[in-house]
Amino acid sequence: MLPNAQEWRRFYDIVKAKTGVDLDLYRSNQLQRRTVSMVESLTLKSLDEFTKWFGESAVNQRWFLDKMAINVSELFRNPEKWTEMINKVLPELGADKKGLKVWSAGCSYGAEAHTLAMILDQKFRGRHQILGTDIDQDALDQAKRGEFSESDVRWVPREYKSTYLRQEGTKWFATDVLRSYLTFRKGNLLADRFDSGYDLIMCRNVVIYFTDEAKEELYRKFYNALRPGGILFVGSTERVTNYRDLGFDTGLPFFYRKPLEGNNQWRNAS
Ligand SMILES: C[S@@+](CC[C@H](N)C(=O)[O-])C[C@H]1O[C@@H](n2cnc3c(N)ncnc32)[C@H](O)[C@@H]1O
Repeated sequence: MLPNAQEWRRFYDIVKAKTGVDLDLYRSNQLQRRTVSMVESLTLKSLDEFTKWFGESAVNQRWFLDKMAINVSELFRNPEKWTEMINKVLPELGADKKGLKVWSAGCSYGAEAHTLAMILDQKFRGRHQILGTDIDQDALDQAKRGEFSESDVRWVPREYKSTYLRQEGTKWFATDVLRSYLTFRKGNLLADRFDSGYDLIMCRNVVIYFTDEAKEELYRKFYNALRPGGILFVGSTERVTNYRDLGFDTGLPFFYRKPLEGNNQWRNAS
């Protein structure tokens, strides 16, 4: 099945109309390959049939968004980065002295936000606030329940597991102490206006399907959303290639800082 340009246009338009998601901002080859495999998995004959099916119900729309976004995550994903977070980034941000304002952008079911909440409570207890946003409502509902699977917890250090997670059958639930740090709400990174004054923005494994232009615009908006000295944390396969042009500096791989006026050194960088 090889849909033509008009069929794709009709599909993109209905997705925008029904969900607000602008597929023109996503890399077309990956997106279209994934969409075609969805059409085939539903044994529909054409993209137009899929477009019709998509328009029929909110359940179908959610199914598509869910499949497309691939909301894979886990607690303490890339554990070595969280060690750097504890030893270098959070001290650099002054987490021991003041409450941090943090954003997990594209938070999926909240594993990254919960990981940071555990670390802050364990090592830098204070009035920190972590916001998690995503376009996927099902993932957000799970984040609010603080619910994780067996495979989500494999990297959680033992002392954190016993303090912050409670096992029920095959599932794990975050304990209430973490809730005071966490808020989850719906948000579209490619359409929303951003709040400002963040100490830390974590946006990991989200931009893989975005076009280069959409990515650059997003990183520019993150820069503006950070306070001077604030840090952007990206995924372990990602790079902000033009970080200098955007105004960032970097003292550690995958961490980009909005410089402080008159201070160009990271205190704890290796
Ligand atoms: C692979 S998950 C990443 C989860 C977490 N950040 C991590 O690294 O473990 C990617 C998430 O990005 C979300 N996402 C994709 N496009 C988005 C957009 N335009 N706005 C907000 N979230 C988006 C998806 O719904 C999905 O939950």
